Amino acid sequence: MARIVQKNKPAAHHVTKHKTRRVHAFMIAMFFILLGILLLYKFSILDFDESASAPSADALYRQASAPVDARVEDLLSRMTLEEKLGQMALVEKNSVDDASDIAAYGLGALLSGAGAKPNDNTGEGWRSMVTHFTALSKKSRLGIPILYGADAVHGHGNVPGATIFPHSIGLGATRDAGLVERVARATAEELNATGIYWSYSPNLDLPQDIRWGRTYEAFSDDPAVAAPLGAAYVRGLQVGNASGTNVLATAKHYIGAGGMQWRSSSNKNFKIDQGTTPPDEKILRSTYLPPFKAAVDAGVGSVMVGLNSWGDTKLSAQKYLITDVLKGELGFKGFVVSDWYSVYEIPGGDYKAAVIAINAGVDMVMLPFDYKPFIANMLFAVRVGDLDESRVDDAVRRILRAKFTAGLFDRTEPTADGLSTLGSTVHRALAREAVAKSSVLLKNSGAVLPIKKNVTRITVAGSAADNVGRQMGAWSVEWQGVDGNWVPGGTSILAGIKERAGSGTNVEYEKDGNFAKNAPLADIGIAVVGEKPYAEGWGDTEYPMLSAEDRAVITHLKASSKKVVVVIVSGRPLLIEHELGTMDALVAVWLPGSEGGGVADVLFGVKSFTGKLPLPWPLDSEEIPIAPDGTTADGTAPLFPRGFGLR
Ligand code: BGC
Repeated sequence: MARIVQKNKPAAHHVTKHKTRRVHAFMIAMFFILLGILLLYKFSILDFDESASAPSADALYRQASAPVDARVEDLLSRMTLEEKLGQMALVEKNSVDDASDIAAYGLGALLSGAGAKPNDNTGEGWRSMVTHFTALSKKSRLGIPILYGADAVHGHGNVPGATIFPHSIGLGATRDAGLVERVARATAEELNATGIYWSYSPNLDLPQDIRWGRTYEAFSDDPAVAAPLGAAYVRGLQVGNASGTNVLATAKHYIGAGGMQWRSSSNKNFKIDQGTTPPDEKILRSTYLPPFKAAVDAGVGSVMVGLNSWGDTKLSAQKYLITDVLKGELGFKGFVVSDWYSVYEIPGGDYKAAVIAINAGVDMVMLPFDYKPFIANMLFAVRVGDLDESRVDDAVRRILRAKFTAGLFDRTEPTADGLSTLGSTVHRALAREAVAKSSVLLKNSGAVLPIKKNVTRITVAGSAADNVGRQMGAWSVEWQGVDGNWVPGGTSILAGIKERAGSGTNVEYEKDGNFAKNAPLADIGIAVVGEKPYAEGWGDTEYPMLSAEDRAVITHLKASSKKVVVVIVSGRPLLIEHELGTMDALVAVWLPGSEGGGVADVLFGVKSFTGKLPLPWPLDSEEIPIAPDGTTADGTAPLFPRGFGLR
């Protein structure tokens, strides 16, 4: 500018004009300089603050072809402490204050606690909810996708219209690892269709006490049965077709769950759930550890620590069991997640509890409510030395490795086209096969089963005869399950019986079994009786038995039919000592799920009975609990031992 002024020495009136021009030129130059700085900043050419800048699109961790460990280390090296702590938080989806928090706090994972559904509770509603959350997570500085977790404990049970497979206790009765692997594979496909890549299954608990309301979630009380089935389930969920891992499995609940003592629950509403497992290390190692070892050997991606205590200490605080035994001895390379709010049941307040749990080896904390104070607290804990940053790094490394292995960074999210896999014909046929294989024939006087084609009149009654909700049990659409036939696509046991009965057979149904008094005796009366759905401690009950209504149904059918076949739909063996004599045949079908036709298949001999009891069936309450070696509490023989099942 000085040069111009000198060169063109202006006249007086020109001076003003020249001054104005100089100011304009100065402003334009400043504008371009500022714009340049902004652009340089945006594209990270200027490194003002490394921690706040987004890595370039070709950063190593973003390269799908790079080895997983290299991607993990690259990403970890770019993370701030706050970002690392965010990854350790697992938040219940309804507890997220504002959806933008997912990226702002870099949350590691969200879950739908059972029953936490989208407003549009359909496959499409689930798909759009989960893919929306995933897209939001990718907006964080480093673009780390969230894991979205669901309790797919017997199929993608949250979603109306999904295939609901038998609960694990039924799968335990099949003893068929190949079948369990196929069931898990189908479950993974239905989860993937809704954008979910993490399931809180398989359940490897070993219920010694059938009064426990979670008995049905387990394959068996016997580690020799549960271990191979659990490993098969892990393979089925995790080993995808072409795309590698499809769904990250979670072996739960580590450890000793099922061995709690009656009336030891830390929850005042419950009797045994969340109770105390006696601190006998020999039993812990010989009985409870083998299924987890099998799952770890099968490559399970995550392990959930239980809500129970071992001795007087909650599992989430058990450093020896989590760090030394699971991660050390078993060589578990995945991440450890705590169960619902269990960390905060460690005494001492939220801060201390989280510090204890993470130091014990918990990598991801299922809060599930307060993520902001959690991150702030743990930041403080690192600053004051209560928590070593190397422990945080170890936890985040494990979480990131699972995310990369599950393909989360490289996937495109599913479109609506894939939703036809939910409740598909192929999956329902598989579920029906599983139902038939899980049915256990316990009594068959006079070979009343299989039902002959030429019978002319069959009467059907009982609380579970025409109720798909009861067949499915809990963890189906709602945490505590649903009642009735409104879930789309399912087949009730009654509908299955009607389908299988011969064309000359008249099938009549009265829920309470009060058939017309003057009618001729039915050839066969089928009582389909059992338990109402229940989940977790709400199913703890001192006397697991049939309801008065269902007992009356059996009595009515006895009076109105030549032969009585009883089908028990339940999450555990029931105490039936007094009713057994009235029954000509007895079949335990557990909680078969949406495909009631599978029960009819074995009743009518389309399929043979091959199921074997997954756990002993006690005669009376004095026999409970029953030790893993089959010894009952009072030393008397159970009504039917584990493994029993007529052919
Ligand atoms: C249960 C877990 C379940 C979790 C998330 C807890 O109450 O114990 O089995 O995975 O909730 O729904």
